[in-house]
Amino acid sequence: MPILVTGGAGYIGSVTVDQLLAKGEEVVVLDDLGRGHRAAVHKDVPFYKGRVGDRQLLARIAAEHKIEACVHFAALAYVGESVLEPASYFENNLEQGIALMGALHQAAVHRVVFSSTCATYGEPEQIPISEKCRQWPANPYGWTKLAMERLLDSYSRAYGLKFVALRYFNAAGATEDRGEHHEPETHLVPNVLAAALGEIAELSVFGNDYPTPDGTAIRDYVHVRDLAEAHILALDYLRLGGESDFINLGTGTGYSVLEVIKSARKVTSRAIPIRFEPRRKGDPAKLVADAAKARTVLGWDPTLSSLPAILRSQWAWRQKHPHGY
Ligand SMILES: NC(=O)c1ccc[n+]([C@@H]2O[C@H](COP(=O)([O-])OP(=O)(O)OC[C@H]3O[C@@H](n4cnc5c(N)ncnc54)[C@H](O)[C@@H]3O)[C@@H](O)[C@H]2O)c1
Repeated sequence: MPILVTGGAGYIGSVTVDQLLAKGEEVVVLDDLGRGHRAAVHKDVPFYKGRVGDRQLLARIAAEHKIEACVHFAALAYVGESVLEPASYFENNLEQGIALMGALHQAAVHRVVFSSTCATYGEPEQIPISEKCRQWPANPYGWTKLAMERLLDSYSRAYGLKFVALRYFNAAGATEDRGEHHEPETHLVPNVLAAALGEIAELSVFGNDYPTPDGTAIRDYVHVRDLAEAHILALDYLRLGGESDFINLGTGTGYSVLEVIKSARKVTSRAIPIRFEPRRKGDPAKLVADAAKARTVLGWDPTLSSLPAILRSQWAWRQKHPHGY
């Protein structure tokens, strides 16, 4: 029975689709291509172009495929944009998400793996951040994801839905065929590599006055292949009768923006000119996961997520795909 992957034409979704196919799973993709790329989806996968809140389309997909589970990636996912345009975020991520969960319930799809985020914690009370830490997002994007988490929890208690909400820290890296291509691009690693290629004259570093050793923000980077693998483990966990849960996906190691740039200079052997700019609204100083639960509950081991390995893979992809998709 196929897995419905929403947002399967996006960065993390497309890698997960490939890894599901490699495990012999059947997959159906639903994506509105607002931020994704048709070329990022394997040509043999049934593809539906549309929004996740389109109930008629969902009913059609459910009629044409006996969907077993849904991996729900589709969302708008830029912190800064969500501060400027909160209405788009609540409409796309929450209103559309509510409609999707209603349609899945209607179609008797009772397993969901949901893309949540460390942005649901906001400014963390403690580092590393465990799943038990208080959640109080610092931006509208984080609130839309936290609201979806609460919805899933309520549906799980009332309707028997089984879900795993995976709270990713920072996705980065590439496979041979799939990489990160967003327009506009706000994520650090692709922008660092664009600066190495001379596509950006100077890389903007937002904030050098954070309470961190070098003053720049610290994040926990996870290779996109490792992230994709966690979704497959989460599906297997649910198939084996696992209880609904919230699980961090991080490595437990944080790197500052300047450390990422330094490592990228080494990997690319290129100059990466930088310019310091003020902090961005809604960006906490340090986000590093307590990653123990993913290991114990899912058996997840992010073996590909060293910073040089992440940068090497993304650099190779950029060179092979100079214009992205
Ligand atoms: N990239 C990260 O570091 C990161 C970190 C934490 C959480 N996440 C979450 O992971 C998920 C995937 O992130 P990504 O980086 O791959 O983003 P992405 O923008 O590359 O992929 C999202 C995909 O969803 C599609 N989409 C968005 N809204 C839709 C809608 N209403 N209907 C149909 N399709 C829609 C887009 O066209 C795109 O293809 C998102 O939910 C994001 O919030 C990402």
